[in-house]
Amino acid sequence: MPRVVVLVGMMGSGKTTVGRRVAAKLGYKFIDTDDLVVARAGKSVREVFEHDGEAMFRAHEAQALAEALATSVDAVVAAAGGSVLSAENRMLLRNSSAVVLWLDADVPSLTERTARSPHRPLLDGDASARLTQLDTERRGLYTEVADERIDTAGLSLEDVVQRVVALV
Ligand code: S3P
Repeated sequence: MPRVVVLVGMMGSGKTTVGRRVAAKLGYKFIDTDDLVVARAGKSVREVFEHDGEAMFRAHEAQALAEALATSVDAVVAAAGGSVLSAENRMLLRNSSAVVLWLDADVPSLTERTARSPHRPLLDGDASARLTQLDTERRGLYTEVADERIDTAGLSLEDVVQRVVALV
């Protein structure tokens, strides 16, 4: 059975950057569920939100997560921030043999890292207020699915990568 590491957490928590580096270090494939959504939908994340609506985006997201978890090779999966909103997705994560790691970060860091990110239409407008709200709503959901929480506050990118590798 392939070894799978799933990174969950808010937009801007570093899932993609950390995931790529961990995958390179371990020689695993890197899978970003947003990329799978774009491939499935044939348009950008923002276009899916704007043309088809958030519900359609969430449907693509659920299929992308299932596809990523069904990988036949060892992989690091960056699961888009909203993947935990669906009870089915949470069950899928909990029931899978993957190691699920929550990259937790404070709102100021999330705000800084998500500035100018076109694939995050939910953050149009007051990103900091929105991130505060989403973080409050989702903390319990990340807790529910994660095997471990990594508090990234004060850690360098390389520190976070080392923590993830150590937990795998
Ligand atoms: C979202 C997170 C984004 C992207 C979309 C919605 C969310 O992915 O899927 O903008 O609801 O948290 P990242 O977590 O990779 O930024």
